[in-house]
Amino acid sequence: MTDRELLKIALSMTERAYAPFSGFCVGAALLTKDGRVFTGVNIENSSLGATICAERTAFVKAISEGAREFEAVAVVSGEGAVWPCGICRQFMKEFCDDDFRIITGDEDGPLQVMTMAEILPGGFRLER
Ligand code: THU
Repeated sequence: MTDRELLKIALSMTERAYAPFSGFCVGAALLTKDGRVFTGVNIENSSLGATICAERTAFVKAISEGAREFEAVAVVSGEGAVWPCGICRQFMKEFCDDDFRIITGDEDGPLQVMTMAEILPGGFRLER
């Protein structure tokens, strides 16, 4: 699975987004270390704070299916590149190593890639 292929899957998901309030449709494709792909979309709510972002949807699906080791996630909107919000960065930090990759970009433009360590330096993790 190449980064470009993962981004294409994320892009294909944007049509399933439920975004009647913002009109901003986001898709995500999460690659596990054993090669599985879990997809997600943003799902908005009349109570706006109850909205869930596309990448968190993908993580919730993956984790609830038993996946725990992740390689990369592609995130994209119908309008182009999207970087994860702060809540998603912290959410991903719980499950991802420093070298986990976040991929975004426009459909035909160059890919943009950052690592977990780069997008959330000093992120919180409770060690017990
Ligand atoms: N959104 C995502 O799905 N992922 C992000 O990383 C950024 C924001 C969604 C949430 C909301 O439905 C819409 O984009 C506008 O904020």
